[in-house]
Amino acid sequence: MLNGKKILYSGMQATGTLTLGNYLGALKNWVNLNEEYECIYGVMDLHSLTVRQVPADFRKNARALYALYVAAGLDPEKNCIYYQSHVSGHAELGWILGCFTYMGELNRMTQFKDKALRHEDNINAGLYTYPVLMAADILLYQADVVPVGQDQKQHLEITRDIAKRFNAIYGDVFTIPEGYISQSGAKIMSLQDPVKKMSKSDENVNATILLLDGRDSIIRKFKRAVTDSDTVVRYAEEKPGISNLMDIYSCVTGKDYAAIEKEFDQKGYGEFKMAVGEAVADELEPLQKRYQSLMDDKAYIDSMIKKNDEKAAYYASKTLRKVQKKVGLTERMF
Ligand code: TRP
Repeated sequence: MLNGKKILYSGMQATGTLTLGNYLGALKNWVNLNEEYECIYGVMDLHSLTVRQVPADFRKNARALYALYVAAGLDPEKNCIYYQSHVSGHAELGWILGCFTYMGELNRMTQFKDKALRHEDNINAGLYTYPVLMAADILLYQADVVPVGQDQKQHLEITRDIAKRFNAIYGDVFTIPEGYISQSGAKIMSLQDPVKKMSKSDENVNATILLLDGRDSIIRKFKRAVTDSDTVVRYAEEKPGISNLMDIYSCVTGKDYAAIEKEFDQKGYGEFKMAVGEAVADELEPLQKRYQSLMDDKAYIDSMIKKNDEKAAYYASKTLRKVQKKVGLTERMF
């Protein structure tokens, strides 16, 4: 608990630009959570180092992610939005927790196995201990709830296991975090292969809507979206392309499936795709404008980063000191 509210923690990696999937599946749903929770969001730049980064681009991407958080509606005065690498406690707690994590557990992580296959030339130890750092992120802030997508559930599970193991030895040090399932939001799939998740690393540019794509390119990509040979706009498992477009349309307009089916009754896929494209472009336009003005206002972003980094560092140090003491490290005198 913090300021009388439960603590919610999440974050995204600072690599490349975000996709419509990141936005509709996560970011958009984080806005307003601060009414119920004390919300802390990290720019997860240490995690991004598990794959090779070009330093100048990396720095720009991290800042862009910060600005996108704010542009999407997360008020940095009401949410603690900070840089993971600016709080040294993540790395310090990560080390300690690594000593309470078994290789057998890490060997079972499906994301490690997938990434190891994709980056065969750079299967580094950081990639392997990625879940330990993620556990440190969450436990450092005593988070009660963590909104994560399906692909991060296993990492949240191992976080809980590590925390319980630690608590069993040293007493109630860590809050055991729960997953946060949001009411709205959906898993957005590729526009070209709708059984695959929409991903920024997709080779086919038409598969993915980037948050900073212009109106024309958004509409063009939706026009080319892969559907099926049927003609009816209907939500069904055997129609993954149309169902995905319906999910997207529903997220941006707030209409449910029945209303969408009715709206496009007797109308072709072409008209539907066009409507989805327009709706998405309309949704993203104000966000993109805010993003641009934030990127131009260096002093404002800098001041928010500084203020929130300090706040995060303060919360983190409380947990870290406690952990260091519990495991028997000698108290420091400076
Ligand atoms: N691994 C997460 C992802 O790629 C990002 C992340 C890092 C995270 N640390 C976290 C998410 C802590 C939630 C909580 O999506």
